[in-house]
Amino acid sequence: MDARRFEELDPPARLLLGSGPSNAEPRVLRAMASPLIGQFDPAFTRIMDEVSALSRLVLRTDNLASFPVSGSSRAGLEAAVASLVQPGDRVVVGNYGRFGDLFCEIAGRYGAEVESIDAEWGRIVEPEQVVASLRRRAAKVVAIVHADTSTGVLQPLAEIGRACREHDALLVVDAVLSLGGVEVSTDEWQLDVCVAGLQKCLGGPSGMAPLTYNQRASAAMRARAAPPRTNYLDLLQLEQYWGPDRLNHHTAPTSMVYALREALRIVCEEGLERRWERHRRASDALRAGLAALGLQLFGDPRHRVPMITLVNVPWGVDEAAVRAKLLDDFGIEIMAAFGPLNGRVWRIGLMGYNARVDNVLAVLSGLGQVLRAQGVQVPTEAAAPAALESYRGAGDRMPEPGIEARTA
Ligand SMILES: Cc1ncc(COP(=O)(O)O)c(C=O)c1O
Repeated sequence: MDARRFEELDPPARLLLGSGPSNAEPRVLRAMASPLIGQFDPAFTRIMDEVSALSRLVLRTDNLASFPVSGSSRAGLEAAVASLVQPGDRVVVGNYGRFGDLFCEIAGRYGAEVESIDAEWGRIVEPEQVVASLRRRAAKVVAIVHADTSTGVLQPLAEIGRACREHDALLVVDAVLSLGGVEVSTDEWQLDVCVAGLQKCLGGPSGMAPLTYNQRASAAMRARAAPPRTNYLDLLQLEQYWGPDRLNHHTAPTSMVYALREALRIVCEEGLERRWERHRRASDALRAGLAALGLQLFGDPRHRVPMITLVNVPWGVDEAAVRAKLLDDFGIEIMAAFGPLNGRVWRIGLMGYNARVDNVLAVLSGLGQVLRAQGVQVPTEAAAPAALESYRGAGDRMPEPGIEARTA
């Protein structure tokens, strides 16, 4: 085979407004180009300690066990389940979308007896349903997604956290979409394990899953009769690798550790509250523009998450053709939907670095033009003014930057 057939890598420039990955912060990409050093070089172990300290600030926790799993977010979720669940353990999953199904699948693979408490897509799981299940029968673990990317719904957690303490269950939360975009208060909400991802509102590429767990979770992992049937995802071993013991586990993906450190540093510099408000402001502007185009949003309006907006596909429109045209003509990626919503909604993400008004204007313009080309008479000229009016009107709500950086 002639290797000259393969040209130099040159992927197209895209604006990634789907369900993740989102475009990475330029500073994160620059950090990734820093020189490699050995994993036990004191300069690198210091960087690892800094990643843990920054993770605590962003996850709002004092947990010592705060470090990333090397892998995509699903690796972090699987590590949490695999490290806690033994065959026969009862696991209750609050399930209101695609990623609740993922919790059920992973827990089932590790031998759990799974009860899935299902809510219709577009709605939350009512906390009382979880409480009632725990009252009926004890469970070792309750697993729930904080913000499900498949439905755009934000699940309230504090009440479920209280119930888990009362009934001696461990609460495992998927904060993959939510961390960096809306409040995630691990300690205050009594989350025993909280798992996130880098490629959405933290502004990096996929490949690191920052997580944290408390003493209750750690005690449950230590009390197991046998170690989990995974070595790579064994959290107690990973804790020993990231902690002062420096157990020789896997070879940390150096450039990804740099990426995570820089991403977390940027979040702290900006300040969590300011960042949440930026996401809210950008999504309000997008939603104002979509309304001006005459498009309807999917999901319970009381529980919509800002970072992803689900838009009903107008009747008679070929949803896949619209996405393809947006990508080809405008270089903008938006997403189709899973399961029962497939073909019925588009998903438009404004996450991390991309939660900005210029991106809102770009996608509104692209979508308006493409819909017109499909014969839908949308008032394209109304979208940008509506978005800008919403955006400017919200300008004085912005909190001060960088509270976390000052407390570090
Ligand atoms: C809420 C949620 N959880 C988990 C995942 C799985 O993450 P990954 O694809 O990084 O493994 C995703 C991915 O989109 C997600 O949106």
